[in-house]
Amino acid sequence: MKFFKRRWTVPRGVKPTEMDRKIMFYEERGHEVPTRSLIKTPEQIEGIRQSGIINTGVLDLVASEIRAGMSTAEIDKLVYDYTTDHGAIPAPLNYEGFPKSVCTSINEVVCHGIPDEDEILEEGDIINVDVSTIYKGYYSDASRMFIIGKTDPMKEKLVRVAKECLEIGMKAAKPYSFVGDIGHAIERHAKKNGFSVVRDLCGHGVGLKFHEEPDVFHFGKQGTGMLLVPGMVFTIEPMINMGTWKVFIDSDDDWTVVTDDEKPSAQWEHTFVMTEKGVQILTH
Ligand code: MF3
Ligand code: CO
Repeated sequence: MKFFKRRWTVPRGVKPTEMDRKIMFYEERGHEVPTRSLIKTPEQIEGIRQSGIINTGVLDLVASEIRAGMSTAEIDKLVYDYTTDHGAIPAPLNYEGFPKSVCTSINEVVCHGIPDEDEILEEGDIINVDVSTIYKGYYSDASRMFIIGKTDPMKEKLVRVAKECLEIGMKAAKPYSFVGDIGHAIERHAKKNGFSVVRDLCGHGVGLKFHEEPDVFHFGKQGTGMLLVPGMVFTIEPMINMGTWKVFIDSDDDWTVVTDDEKPSAQWEHTFVMTEKGVQILTH
């Protein structure tokens, strides 16, 4: 006989709160629960919110400037200049060796595309711009798709459905629901529209570090995965493919993630805080 090691504990002599009792209830039934360190304080949430405001400013600037004929290196410069002008740091820069301030992922590139002065945006391209900001030590993370000029109806649909997947995932994220509920809802919507969900990359806890627990998969079974508790901060960032869900990493740079069949991929991302009433977007 052995004791299981609890992730959620209440110090001896301290009266458990309503929240403590709910979390212990789920843990005793075999569910994965957060550790206390994943529950942000109101001060930390405020810090992440401030970081998110700058992050949104970056994306709004990119939205107003992006156009055919522009290089992805120009996007990188916009991101670097705006972020540093606001007293913040672009989180991707030098992160595990990433060489630029933002990820720019065009058409069949799923994510982690590296800005390059020789990469020029063309009419009909779809591009994900993934911006992450560190402000006073607090991390925020969000991405949007941009359609360059006019594109074909299938790519347009892919961009729209990927956005709907984020919105549907967000609605599935209720207090005391599970990470698997998010993935389940997203996968269902993607499949219903004839698209697939990337399985090799996921959303994540965020706030005090770039990537924290839990992994937020964009597929899965209801009632599985980590319990979602008020105070947790995490991203949802579904990558939706027109063809196969399979991807590979470009060996030229060891970063760029590309679809196996080189059909297009689309992604949208927000950072959220869980509250007693549901999630709130911190990167509006
Ligand atoms: N922004 C990505 C995410 O959503 C992470 C990029 S890591 C980088 O989690 F190094 F490529 F920037
Ligand atoms: Co992210």
